[in-house]
Amino acid sequence: MENVRRIKACLNMRLGHSRVSPFKASVTACFFMFLLCPGQLSTQLGTTANIKHIVVGRCYNYITLVNPSLRLDCEEIWRQFEEAVVGQSSCNVTVEHYRYMFYAMSQSWPCDRFLFWSKTRTLMHSYAAVVRHFWTLEDTLAGYMFNDLIWCGQEKDSGFDFSSCPEWSACRNHPVYSLWRLASQNFAEMACGNITVLLNGSIVNAFGRKSMFGSVELDSLNPHRVNYVNIKVVTNLEGPFIETCSEGSIVDLIQILQSRGFRWTCTDKDQTLMILQCIQNPQHSSCQTCANSLSHRKGLTIK
Ligand SMILES: *[C@@H]1O[C@H](CO)[C@@H](O)[C@H](O)[C@H]1NC(C)=O
Ligand SMILES: *[C@@H]1O[C@H](CO)[C@@H](O)[C@H](O)[C@H]1NC(C)=O
Ligand SMILES: *[C@@H]1O[C@H](CO)[C@@H](O)[C@H](O)[C@H]1NC(C)=O
Repeated sequence: MENVRRIKACLNMRLGHSRVSPFKASVTACFFMFLLCPGQLSTQLGTTANIKHIVVGRCYNYITLVNPSLRLDCEEIWRQFEEAVVGQSSCNVTVEHYRYMFYAMSQSWPCDRFLFWSKTRTLMHSYAAVVRHFWTLEDTLAGYMFNDLIWCGQEKDSGFDFSSCPEWSACRNHPVYSLWRLASQNFAEMACGNITVLLNGSIVNAFGRKSMFGSVELDSLNPHRVNYVNIKVVTNLEGPFIETCSEGSIVDLIQILQSRGFRWTCTDKDQTLMILQCIQNPQHSSCQTCANSLSHRKGLTIK
């Protein structure tokens, strides 16, 4: 079995082709963008220490070095953030609470660069680093400022709760979740031109309706702004090989996209992504050179 895969991978690399099915249709765009790994927040840790210095520092870093054309007031953004969170019971911070903060940090984005992803965080980072023109939620000011942080306030108290915060799943209006939800929604609403969605074919429900992509971003995409939704399904080199463009939840995603009038393509054999995975794991059998793979062909038994 492994050999079959190796040869297939080799042939795909040699031919340099991807299976692409372009379709013009109505669409419900489903994006998968899972912003934070939920696992990260499932601990009982309290608000990240030094959160004010981190958030304000990241903000200055962003407007000074990352995107110097932005004219935003970092102190004001922090003030709006505190206003949203502090003094609220820690399960009672809604998207609405963050509205003013997001007004204070509005940003526009060039088209054709939006990258959405779900359950592919590590690979997404290397992909975005190599294909440099991609923008992910983490590249927005909000994403940049709040990435990996935890916070919650407490009722009738003027500060953050540094001793413990509820798990993300424990409440409906979690302060961290609500912020990411609004950030994701804004990001998806802005999306224009060709957008890319990176999904994990090694899990069941690569397109999960409960993920940030499936529950927020997909519904915020505008078929009049988005030209193509280009889906890329990627599995771990070692498998399991569960979902593809024509199997599993991705099919549902494509149907939603079509029904909402989006044009789309889908590939589960993207060469750049495979090469990136191989750079991280060059010894893996599916990364051996074609010459190597094919020389083993004689001993191959196809089961
Ligand atoms: C949650 O917020 C609403 C309105 O902001 C308020 O009426 C309610 O009392 C709050 N609940 C808790 C448990 O703090
Ligand atoms: C797919 O998801 C699994 C489980 O979360 C993870 O271990 C794996 O790294 C992901 N694969 C890719 C290619 O992102
Ligand atoms: C957008 O995607 C379509 C389909 O993949 C492709 O034909 C077209 O060249 C892309 N346009 C841009 C500007 O990337």
